[in-house]
Amino acid sequence: MRRKLAAGNWKMNGSRAALAELTALEPAAAGAAEVLICPPAPLVALAADHAQAVQIGGQDCHANQSGAHTGDTSAAILKDAGAGYVILGHSERRADYGESDADVRAKCDAAWEAGLTAVVCVGETLDQRESQNTLDIIGGQLAGSIPDAATGHNLVVAYEPVWAIGTGKIPTLEQIGDVHDFIRAKLERRFGEGVGLSVRLLYGGSVKPSNAQEIFGVSNVDGALVGGASLKAADFNQIIAALNAEA
Ligand code: PGA
Repeated sequence: MRRKLAAGNWKMNGSRAALAELTALEPAAAGAAEVLICPPAPLVALAADHAQAVQIGGQDCHANQSGAHTGDTSAAILKDAGAGYVILGHSERRADYGESDADVRAKCDAAWEAGLTAVVCVGETLDQRESQNTLDIIGGQLAGSIPDAATGHNLVVAYEPVWAIGTGKIPTLEQIGDVHDFIRAKLERRFGEGVGLSVRLLYGGSVKPSNAQEIFGVSNVDGALVGGASLKAADFNQIIAALNAEA
C-alpha cells in the first residue's frame, strides 16, 4: 500500500563531483523502497540526467510558476529540470525566511499545479515540546500548510522535530510513534480514510545508519527525511537497506 521512501536532503551541500554518490545509490534504489535525493537547485537538472532509479527533488519552490522573483526557483522550473518532488516548509526555511503555514500552503499549491509531489515538513521546537505543546503545534502546521486537494500521490508529510535536526538527538521511539499516529489520524479525519491512509509519513532529524532500523519499526513511519547522513552513499545506502528490509 504505502511505498516506503528514503529521502535525502543535501541542503546547501554538494557539487558536480558529488553526483557520483547518486550512482552509488542506484543498486539500493532498485529495491522495494523509493529513494529520493534533493540537491541544491543548480544541481537538480544534472542530478536528474544522471539518476536512474533514484528520484530527484528540489528543496523549496516559489508560490508562482514564473516572473520577477530574483533568486527564486519555481515548481515549473524544477519539474522541467527533471524533479518529481519538492521539500516544502523545512524548519530551516521557516526559521531563516520566516515562512508561515500560509506561505507553505501556497507553495504546495504551486508544486501540485506543476505536477510535483510535495514533502511538507512539520515539527516542534524544544521549547514547544517541553511546554507540552507538540501536538497542538503539529496539528496547526498540518491544517495551515496543506491545501485541500491532498492525495496519497501528491503529498508526503515529514515529521522533523526542530531540536533533532543536525543535533544527534532523537525523540524516543514512543514519542515518534505518538506524533506519527496523531498525523495519520488528522489526515484521515480531514481527507477521508482513503487519502489519509495513503499519504506517506517520514521521520526526520538525526537519522543515521545506527538508528534507522529501530525508527523504521515504529508505527506509521513510512521512511525518513535524512540530512547529514544522505551526503555519503556509504551511510545512506545502509539507511535504504534498513528500509528495504521493512518493505
Ligand atoms: P539531519 O537533517 O538528518 O542532518 O538531522 C534532517 C533534515 O533537516 O531534513
